[in-house]
Amino acid sequence: MSDLALIAAAQAARDRAHAPYSRHPVGAAVLDEAGRIHAGCNVENAAYPLGTCAEASAISAMVGAGGRRIAAIAVAGPEGSLCTPCGGCRQRIREFAAGDTPVLVRDPEGGVARFTLDELLPASFGPENLGQ
Ligand code: THU
Repeated sequence: MSDLALIAAAQAARDRAHAPYSRHPVGAAVLDEAGRIHAGCNVENAAYPLGTCAEASAISAMVGAGGRRIAAIAVAGPEGSLCTPCGGCRQRIREFAAGDTPVLVRDPEGGVARFTLDELLPASFGPENLGQ
């Protein structure tokens, strides 16, 4: 699985986002332990706090399809932006990913910025802290 294929899946999901209030469409694509891709987009709501992030949608799709580990995740925001995952989504990713898991973010020039989860969420709290 190439970085570009995962980013392309995130971009395709972003193009289906429901973001009429923020006008900030986001797509995410998760690569699971079986090599399958699960994508999702942000889905906003007129009752603003009920909106969901793209990463949360993609993770829900993965879990619903039987995936249990995130091998890599890609995020694509609006054209010309670097849309790194919000703090809450960094923790959502942490539930299913290791510190060295790649987090790929579409960069403003159309390239790919590569992070690890540890870089985005250092000294994190995860399932191991609860003995899992
Ligand atoms: N958003 C995401 O989908 N993922 C992030 O990591 C950052 C923010 C969405 C939520 C909201 O619909 C819009 O972007 C503006 O915050």
